[in-house]
Amino acid sequence: MAVECNPMTPIKVELGRKLFYDTRLSKNHDVACNTCHLLDSYGVDGLPTSVGHKNQVGGRNAPTVYNAAGFIAQFWDGRSPDVEDQAKGPPLNPIEMAMADEEAVVAVLASIPGYVKLFSAAFPDEGEPITFDNMAKAIGAFERGLVTPSRFDTYLDGDDEALSEQEITGLITFLDTGCGNCHSGQYLGGGMYQKLGLEEAWDKDNDQGRFDVTGKEEDRQVFKVPSLRNITETGPYFHTGSIETLEEAVELMAKHQLGSDIKEEQIQSIIAFLTALKGEINAVYIARPELPQSSPATPAPDPN
Ligand code: HEC
Ligand code: HEC
Repeated sequence: MAVECNPMTPIKVELGRKLFYDTRLSKNHDVACNTCHLLDSYGVDGLPTSVGHKNQVGGRNAPTVYNAAGFIAQFWDGRSPDVEDQAKGPPLNPIEMAMADEEAVVAVLASIPGYVKLFSAAFPDEGEPITFDNMAKAIGAFERGLVTPSRFDTYLDGDDEALSEQEITGLITFLDTGCGNCHSGQYLGGGMYQKLGLEEAWDKDNDQGRFDVTGKEEDRQVFKVPSLRNITETGPYFHTGSIETLEEAVELMAKHQLGSDIKEEQIQSIIAFLTALKGEINAVYIARPELPQSSPATPAPDPN
């Protein structure tokens, strides 16, 4: 969905912000988007894999939601085209928010008078504003504002002083080593799919990535190239969440993606550059909102 199909009106963004934080979109009223994508922690939970309904643990690391709206697709395997489509997944995922079906989600929203008002205001031309799709559109509109401008942007805008000498050397090392072949564009990633283990086979886990989406042999172990913005803040790394340090991640990338043994000083140089990709979080935009009150009609939490 292009942004024109889901204009970011202030009222829709306000609604999306509340929904992002609202645990009542989960079966036991204890899991929200913000449980796994903590907005004040660069959009991640810091765990190898996330914990959802009934403390169930998922199979992949939770990527950050910051800047995600700008990527070619959503999820490690790109199985969802955009943030609006993606937002329909977690509420119904049995190990995440575990709601029974779309109707159950709509019933919760319709039972909360404050949401009835907000949906009408956010989707003014619609006879039935409270729908599952509109919930996802509101969340998507909010996510489109989750951007993190950094010193690297200031540098790209022509201010040579925005990066230190060490960071500029790091940028050159990053490019000379070949990292920028895949981690390219304004997000340094998020723009293409690539095989994990392109030069040296990846045997640390059996996730087949995009193959499970397309069924094509050439898509085995192919994943979306992740963005490197805020990468110092979003560990542990890789779709497995099994790589704890950025040093190790960079070393493994050089080995498996480029077939090269990288020297310690090159690793440190690259990390100096990656540090400059840490951006600013807009504290006002992500401030935890006051949520509208439940009514007697709101379904009770269900721990089962
Ligand atoms: C229980 C933890 C959990 C909850 C709750 C959760 N997510 Fe996620 N999220 C994940 C995991 C894990 C992935 C990666 C899954 C994959 O790639 O297969 C993910 C992926 C994403 C992505 C893709 C980002 C990218 O770079 O591809 C977005 C966007 C996202 N979630 C937004 C949301 C929204 C919006 C909600 C609430 C409606 C939500 N998530 C609820 C764990 C969670
Ligand atoms: C051939 C393409 C390619 C090249 C070259 C490449 N990468 Fe990657 N990179 C990927 C893919 C694909 C992933 C996702 C791996 C996965 O599925 O866990 C990734 C993941 C990463 C991650 C972990 C991101 C996260 O959110 O967990 C870091 C850090 C990283 N790359 C840095 C680098 C650096 C530094 C270089 C150069 C030494 C480099 N990459 C070279 C494709 C590439």
